[in-house]
Amino acid sequence: MTTQVVRTRAELAAARAQLPGPVGLVPTMGALHAGHLANIEASRQHTAATVVSIFVNPMQFDRADDLARYPRTFEQDLALCEQAGVALVWHPDVLTMYPNGPVQVRVSAGELADQLEGPHRPGHFDGVLTVVLKLLLTVRPDHAFFGEKDYQQLTLIRRMVADLDLPVQVHGVPTVRDSDGLALSSRNVFLSPAERAQALRLNRALRAAQSETSTPAAALARARAELAGLAVEYLEVRSAALTAPTPGPGRVLVAAQVGNVRLIDNMPLNIGPAS
Ligand code: PAF
Repeated sequence: MTTQVVRTRAELAAARAQLPGPVGLVPTMGALHAGHLANIEASRQHTAATVVSIFVNPMQFDRADDLARYPRTFEQDLALCEQAGVALVWHPDVLTMYPNGPVQVRVSAGELADQLEGPHRPGHFDGVLTVVLKLLLTVRPDHAFFGEKDYQQLTLIRRMVADLDLPVQVHGVPTVRDSDGLALSSRNVFLSPAERAQALRLNRALRAAQSETSTPAAALARARAELAGLAVEYLEVRSAALTAPTPGPGRVLVAAQVGNVRLIDNMPLNIGPAS
């Protein structure tokens, strides 16, 4: 299948008008890996045409060096989209996405954005929600697909869609892992072999939490033991909606710095009765 690439808003509007419905959108920042391909596959199963956006969004980076070194692999990404049966790749540059320069009016991510990832990445979620809203408004998909790897992002996007009455159905796609358990991330390429071995401890910690869910505190104690010596930024058990944990479906989430690479991961768990 030939994937059409569009770079301007006019090209996007013309190409979008030709797509059969329902249309699925998989927003990405490129550097595609098997995690993105799982989102594309989910879209292919639910829709008649899949659009992948590839845009490294400056607004969601709080550090210029992080933005500068973010991997950009467009030709490879396009080949993967072609193999995966993507109908359209929307690949705007910064000026096309933000024609008036830095936005004055943005989506404010609210209270949930001040927790977990929030304090470590000021402004990040306002940047994510603002660009996702712009992508939804320009592509007008019926369905949109996001990885559970960025669980807080997914939760906030669901909330934005509900709060702003956006006419799109949001789907979370389970995290894809390497055979050793490391959650796939575009940032994994920066890990040395020794750092990669350390990074696997995040996965072990989350699995340890899953195995001891009598109380959130017990789950956390198990997980913490696996992370001793690592630069952990947070390790928390929350409800599935990321509110305070209550008995029932929940989520355990972790972030740690491994060498120069900041890693996040999370897993579902079933929380037992409160102690
Ligand atoms: O998850 C990502 O890659 C980005 O945050 C997203 C959703 C594409 C917005 O830039």
